Amino acid sequence: MSPDPTHGKKGIVLAGGAGTRLDPLTRVACKQLLPVYDKPMIYYPLSVLMLGDIRDVLIISTPKDLPMFRELFGDGSALGIAIDYAEQSEPRGLAEALIIGEPFLDGSGCCLVLGDNLFHGNLDLFRNALGTERGAAIFAKEVRDPERFGVVEFDAGGRVLSIEEKPQRPRSRFAVPGLYVFDGSAPTRAKRLSPSARGELEIADLILSYHADDQLTAHPLGRGVAWLDTGTPDSLLEAANYIATLQHHGSVQVACLEEIAFERGFIDREALLAHADAQPSRGRGDYLRSRAR
Ligand code: G1P
Repeated sequence: MSPDPTHGKKGIVLAGGAGTRLDPLTRVACKQLLPVYDKPMIYYPLSVLMLGDIRDVLIISTPKDLPMFRELFGDGSALGIAIDYAEQSEPRGLAEALIIGEPFLDGSGCCLVLGDNLFHGNLDLFRNALGTERGAAIFAKEVRDPERFGVVEFDAGGRVLSIEEKPQRPRSRFAVPGLYVFDGSAPTRAKRLSPSARGELEIADLILSYHADDQLTAHPLGRGVAWLDTGTPDSLLEAANYIATLQHHGSVQVACLEEIAFERGFIDREALLAHADAQPSRGRGDYLRSRAR
């Protein structure tokens, strides 16, 4: 058997938070289960992990919302993967996901993806980054409004100079998307962090701890990858329109988890056809059947 190119990495989807910028949409509904066109939002980040051949996944959410994710995905076996669940009882920051996930990771490296981040396009860069044995890898995407995100600054040689969380005066136009690759030291590093002024364990501080040890690589996402966040009513609508446009004009769906499971060899043709037969809607069943080649 060929060696695992991800070096045994596991996946964590962080689907917590109050989603206040989407209120009243999120007053009772869970943000990461809101529709992005024809699927719940979390399908998109989960599809990225699956496309990276990660088959052990932990979904972290609030005590209130976690049961809904469980109902949606069960133990993951229908998709040929294993899904575990863990609670984040208070919004204590993104870096806390590594502490909550420590027993699940059990020393393995991981890929953390935020449950409201949507990626589409050529994911080779991401697959390569999953091969990181030691250290951490982040990505960077040039945006118009960097102050809304974590911001990474590079020197002329492409080395990281600084990382700041939502700076008032961004030092660059490169935002850090919610997709991070960490080696097995991440939980220990996260436990060493102190809460920021807003009382959270910041993902930027976790990344900076790798940077301080000269163990951070940052990869600019070029034009081949679209990164959409879904944190505001406008960005949510734009993401939905983007997916609808792609699916209407092409013949393939984005983030169709059953299809991806089949293509990555997690489930066989019979299982895909069984999914097709079980679809309550004819269109989706026909689509899955068309992919069972
Ligand atoms: C979080 C991170 C930020 C990152 C962003 C990506 O911010 O803190 O560094 O750029 O996700 O979506 P949030 O959207 O949770 O405010």
